Amino acid sequence: MSKYNVLIVGSGGREHALAWKVKQSQHVQNVFVAPGNAGTGMDATNVDLDPADHNAVIQFAKENNVGLVIVGPEAPLVAGLVDALTDAGLRAFGPSKAASELEGSKVFCKNLLRSADIPTADYRTFRSADDASRYIKDRFSEPTDPVNVVVKADGLAAGKGVVVCDTRSEALEAIDRIAARKEFGAAGKELIIEERLTGPEVSVLAITDGETIVTLPPAQDHKPANDGDTGPNTGGMGAYCPAPVLDEETLAKVESSILVPVVHAMKRSRRPFKGVLYAGLMLTPAGPKVLEFNVRFGDPECQPLLMRLKTDLVEVMQAVVDGKLEETGPLEFDPRPAICVVMASEGYPADYEKGHAITGIESADKMENVKVFHAGTQRVDGEVVNTGGRVLGVTAMGDSISAAKLQAYKAVREIRWQGAWCRKDISDKALVTAAKA
Ligand code: AMP
Ligand code: GLY
Repeated sequence: MSKYNVLIVGSGGREHALAWKVKQSQHVQNVFVAPGNAGTGMDATNVDLDPADHNAVIQFAKENNVGLVIVGPEAPLVAGLVDALTDAGLRAFGPSKAASELEGSKVFCKNLLRSADIPTADYRTFRSADDASRYIKDRFSEPTDPVNVVVKADGLAAGKGVVVCDTRSEALEAIDRIAARKEFGAAGKELIIEERLTGPEVSVLAITDGETIVTLPPAQDHKPANDGDTGPNTGGMGAYCPAPVLDEETLAKVESSILVPVVHAMKRSRRPFKGVLYAGLMLTPAGPKVLEFNVRFGDPECQPLLMRLKTDLVEVMQAVVDGKLEETGPLEFDPRPAICVVMASEGYPADYEKGHAITGIESADKMENVKVFHAGTQRVDGEVVNTGGRVLGVTAMGDSISAAKLQAYKAVREIRWQGAWCRKDISDKALVTAAKA
């Protein structure tokens, strides 16, 4: 069997986890990551390529025996990198530009959900701040009136374009920021005002070739910065998998009432979806409802998911590229749960400090069932320094969620840099579920 190289596009914790996993494939010689971070530079080879420069990515792939390109983050997917690679005769894993609209435009996503009768919050779309403000003012008269709405910018806003509102003034302020002051730029050309739902959140990811759907075990993210889900929203401060909050029966319902109809609806609207379909769900009293779709692995959900995956990921991805996912058997997962604790820079998610030397990664990595995935790191003069808000995803597996948690935090304690911090309660939500059951 002749081996080939794999190119992974991106530079976060998700891409480090992908590189680590892909490296284990029997089909793979070398793994390149563009542009990568200090961690991918150790487990793979970093290449200094700008993912926005499609021609440069194509040229590199053609010159380096790249048999598969995996596009990690949403921005290059929405920008059509997979289409460009495919047109150039390369094999690329990820949805097309048209299919990536499912994440790139919340208006497109909501309209598709509504037309396919898929459970999601009721909503209205607006093209101007005035219309949106009038809608709020007509429904709620006093500034302090409690409201039950969520205001969302249509386009990509790195998770920041969503405001859950408690009062009328908050809703008006959110509309002003998104649609009048254009804080999120073009992402705010349209906006959505939707019904606020309640219930626990869970992420269900599936791999699909547009026909066959392979659902992965549910995971739970921790988006707010501080313990007990308080504080400002972040890209995700930790995750664990599997999440017991979603029992088998409900997971089957998510497949039949959400994943299958979405994949069909995408096909019908001539945007066949191939890649990772990520449903962000709220388990409401009326059943699971869609909050959003992402068109890629979640970060940090990817880290515990891939730590548990035993199947050769490259074979699965190649089957997706070929439209032959039906022929691959069910995925095999380690039965042990895994958790990922994100260590962040001082100040994150607001402005943060960069450039501090990090110590202890090596000894943490040596611990049993631990892997430290890098996100915002770079190697400078031989030292690993923090260069991003989310810096490391310390990931561990254990016989139970509590054992995995214990091991992950033991590894966290090995690692130091000035200002480093993390949430202390990653995966505790699972214990709450267990106590209720
Ligand atoms: P999204 O990027 O659309 O997933 O939204 C980010 C976060 O905002 C979600 O993880 C939820 O915590 C919250 N959120 C979004 N939509 C709603 C909703 N309709 N009701 C309540 N919370 C929501
Ligand atoms: N963890 C949430 C995301 O990747 O968007």
